[in-house]
Amino acid sequence: MSVPAIATTAEEARRRVAEARAQGKIIGLVPTMGALHEAHLTLMRRARAECGFVVVSIFVNPTQFVAGEDFERYPRDMAGDAKLCGSVGVDLVFAPEVREVYPPGDSTRVEVMGTLVEGMCAPHRPGHFRGVTTVCARLFNIVAPDNAYFGEKDYQQLQIIKRMVRDLKLPLTIVPIATVREPDGLAMSSRNAYLSSEERKAAPILHRGLRVGEDAAEAGEREAAAIIAAARKVIEAAPRVKLQYLELRDAETLENVARLCRPAVLAVAALVGKTRLIDNVVIGPGDTPAAQTGQRR
Ligand code: PAJ
Repeated sequence: MSVPAIATTAEEARRRVAEARAQGKIIGLVPTMGALHEAHLTLMRRARAECGFVVVSIFVNPTQFVAGEDFERYPRDMAGDAKLCGSVGVDLVFAPEVREVYPPGDSTRVEVMGTLVEGMCAPHRPGHFRGVTTVCARLFNIVAPDNAYFGEKDYQQLQIIKRMVRDLKLPLTIVPIATVREPDGLAMSSRNAYLSSEERKAAPILHRGLRVGEDAAEAGEREAAAIIAAARKVIEAAPRVKLQYLELRDAETLENVARLCRPAVLAVAALVGKTRLIDNVVIGPGDTPAAQTGQRR
């Protein structure tokens, strides 16, 4: 168990990364908002396996929280997080204050436009993805990683970040990591900590519903409406769960899909009690990301 160095300024993070790069090391970045759990550690282990110098950023990014969301009460545990980073051999934790990332007078935003930000979470969290791309562009600019690791749990975020990197020709590779789940199927999330014990019992219904949709597709169903209806029936029957959206979208462009003839993402968001949870599965013909890693479920 090593103790990672902690940088709180962009200047220090840059200096430490430059030292590692001068030693010929490949730089890996895992951006997080902290409250680290096993899924974050999975991203870090993958970065550790592939890179000579691993940076984890811990920053609860105010610009991606919409008014009325949980920015103030988002769980924060710097000491516990630093320990967890040490347990998987992270070299550097970058944990800046808000004013370091958004200096006074800051007025620059980075925004992906078009289909990627028109459906799924976008209408429910206006401005959210602009906040995500803005902070990731800044983190990429400060750390200058060769690889950056993102989870498929936040599927829309992953596609948007990939598009930003492609469009801006940023010199890094985005590495997607399959969704990490609890034994009962619930996708791990820092927000699971908000669930009461009754809500926690109800929450795996999201994944169960998605699997019913996936099973329908595997049994040969190609109509999006039928696949969605099969999943919806399961999820809507659950107590304490209020569906926000359940959509089938092209796995890459996130365009609406009427018939399943290419890989598509079946994605859900729901309020479980007052906690908003998201999940997804990639289904359909072709080499889905999950099929490639043999982690369909
Ligand atoms: P956060 O929610 O802390 O997640 C950090 C990274 O961990 C993201 O890439 C997310 O997709 C991944 N992750 C979280 N739960 C996961 C799970 N169960 N399986 C696989 N990966 C999982 O996502 C963010 O922070 C922020 O939006 C951020 C990208 C850091 C920008 O502020």
